[in-house]
Amino acid sequence: MIEQAIVDWDETGTPRSRRFDDIYFSRGGGLDETRTVFLQGCGLPEAWRGRRRFVVGELGFGTGLNVLALLQLWQAAREPGARLHIFSVEAFPLDEADARRALAAWPELEPLAEILLAGWPAARGFHRIDFPGQGAVLDLAVMEAAEALEAWRGRADAWFLDGFSPSRNPEIWRDEVLALAAARSAQGARAASFTVAGTVRRGLEAQGFETAKRPGFGGKAERLEASLPGPIAHERRALPTVCIVGAGIAGAALARAFRAEGVEPVVLDARAPGAGASGNPAALVTPRLDAGGGTPAQLHAQAFARAVALYGQTLAEAVISRGALQLEIQPRDAPRFDRLAESDLFPEGALQRLNPAETGARLGEPADTGALWIRDALVLEPGPVLGGWLGPGGARTAAAAGLEPVRDGWRLLGQAGEALAEAEVVCIATGHAAGRLAPVAIEPVRGQASFAPWPERPTPAAWGGYVIPTRDGLLFGATHERGQDGAELRAGDHLHNLEVLARKRPRLAAALTAAPLDGRAAVRASTRDRLPAAGGLAGMPGVFVLTGLGGRGFCLAPLLAEHVAALALRLPSPLPRPLAEAVDPDRDGVRRLITPG
Ligand SMILES: Cc1cc2nc3c(=O)[nH]c(=O)nc-3n(C[C@H](O)[C@H](O)[C@H](O)COP(=O)(O)OP(=O)(O)OC[C@H]3O[C@@H](n4cnc5c(N)ncnc54)[C@H](O)[C@@H]3O)c2cc1C
Ligand SMILES: C[S@@+](CC[C@H](N)C(=O)[O-])C[C@H]1O[C@@H](n2cnc3c(N)ncnc32)[C@H](O)[C@@H]1O
Repeated sequence: MIEQAIVDWDETGTPRSRRFDDIYFSRGGGLDETRTVFLQGCGLPEAWRGRRRFVVGELGFGTGLNVLALLQLWQAAREPGARLHIFSVEAFPLDEADARRALAAWPELEPLAEILLAGWPAARGFHRIDFPGQGAVLDLAVMEAAEALEAWRGRADAWFLDGFSPSRNPEIWRDEVLALAAARSAQGARAASFTVAGTVRRGLEAQGFETAKRPGFGGKAERLEASLPGPIAHERRALPTVCIVGAGIAGAALARAFRAEGVEPVVLDARAPGAGASGNPAALVTPRLDAGGGTPAQLHAQAFARAVALYGQTLAEAVISRGALQLEIQPRDAPRFDRLAESDLFPEGALQRLNPAETGARLGEPADTGALWIRDALVLEPGPVLGGWLGPGGARTAAAAGLEPVRDGWRLLGQAGEALAEAEVVCIATGHAAGRLAPVAIEPVRGQASFAPWPERPTPAAWGGYVIPTRDGLLFGATHERGQDGAELRAGDHLHNLEVLARKRPRLAAALTAAPLDGRAAVRASTRDRLPAAGGLAGMPGVFVLTGLGGRGFCLAPLLAEHVAALALRLPSPLPRPLAEAVDPDRDGVRRLITPG
């Protein structure tokens, strides 16, 4: 579990950190202090005049008061259609109840505070919270400041430097931290702080900031303003045109991510949305569970949290059920699941250990093992997910056979060499067929799921096999055939799926033996290291891929699509650098050197 802040409250209702023995904001004037020290200190709102994008970074998220004050000002004084990206860092988050209590002092912030509190982070890693009504997004890194800055790929136009006082909290003011903040600053960036401590001023000056003391707020004599030399960097180019090839969950998630940033993409599909692997009647959204806590575990935990938030916020009508059991299948699973239930990559209570009796009670028939209850897991109906995210335009029916560079981007070609579309940014999201358009090595993995109308709506459960509810019954399976790409239905595969079901749901499998089974076969896309491919391709500027989603496309695609859109639009990515590198399509074993013809 993460180390949470322990907060004491003084008689004025001001929160005080027990760890640092310092207050989060000044007694009686927190919001006014924020406005003077940070908003005015960074020259806001004047600094974002004429800007389509503005990026603010903060060291020391605390109660979120600074971020809310910033959002309130942005709401009142943003340029029409402009987007605000906020990045903030917190090593010791408050729990949601303490944050709520602290923020309750400012009823005028309540609507924004409610959005923030609804997404309040309770696990290690990067978390994204949307403020769609304000045209703003917050990426909050729950980790040490230096680690967070190393991992962040943005460039801030303004910095709020808001650790506790340097004498009580020297780590966050270290030269190394200030150097990282400077390295992640745009030309002409501003910085502001409540402290004028010599160490902070000298630290900033050593990184090229010019500093100035200004009259402080409240009882404080002085506050600090700083700026990097040079003119403020303005975007010269208009937003690019974007074409997405493939209308499965990868393509649909890309369409959503680009649209959220103000770009309306064109989507092409050789057949129709959901014609490939994304077209089953139901899909389970669960992370790959890896007790080691390494890169795949971090990627899946972050992607899972983002998927659950986005499906829940934007597509609640597509959610069939919530919660899923991951069943033990071998002796080592018990200690593995114990460790997972304690993992700091998930909020407390998100993964719960169940004994065999509790497992059986949820399954609806006796269980021979325990399980992990994945509280936030979803079962989705893919049709409305794809429809909702592709938008009213859906997808144009066109099969791309190649792409060639043109003056301002790329031209997509059809089978006979005819031009299908031209765009400055092209995203290849064609699942297992991605290697035909982009130089990536993707292995097909055929899979068949079985389904039937059924009176019982099973509790979602996975154990190698899986069973989940559909709108009118249940779905179970599935087969895995590496290297195979046929999509025909096979009677033998239904038998195999029934056998796998019988290992954990013998009564259900026996009852289904007499039922007429329907099914669907499709092809997953896998890579050699079993991690997705999401990002750009060296030597092909403007071409991006999102594929290799294996058996968890509905978990991985929403976050990875935001990463790809951020790279394409040169915005801060929600994905920390080590995870971005792990999914880079140019990595060994995935990038093919030859350009496909
Ligand atoms: C049996 C089975 C069960 C599964 N269950 C789950 C589950 O419960 N949960 C989960 O998260 N994942 C599940 N998966 C995996 C999941 O389906 C995939 O990870 C996901 O669908 C991949 O999405 P995609 O958009 O990358 O590819 P696809 O859905 O395959 O979409 C690719 C699209 O590209 C189009 N296309 C291909 N070539 C071209 C071209 N040249 N030009 C234009 N368009 C083209 C295709 O028509 C297709 O619509 C399952 C997979 C299988 C096979
Ligand atoms: C003064 S408070 C921030 C107040 C906050 N900006 C607000 O609006 O409420 C300082 C914050 O920095 C955090 N912090 C301290 N040291 C840190 C470190 N090394 N890395 C990341 N965060 C740290 C503290 O936990 C605390 O929440």
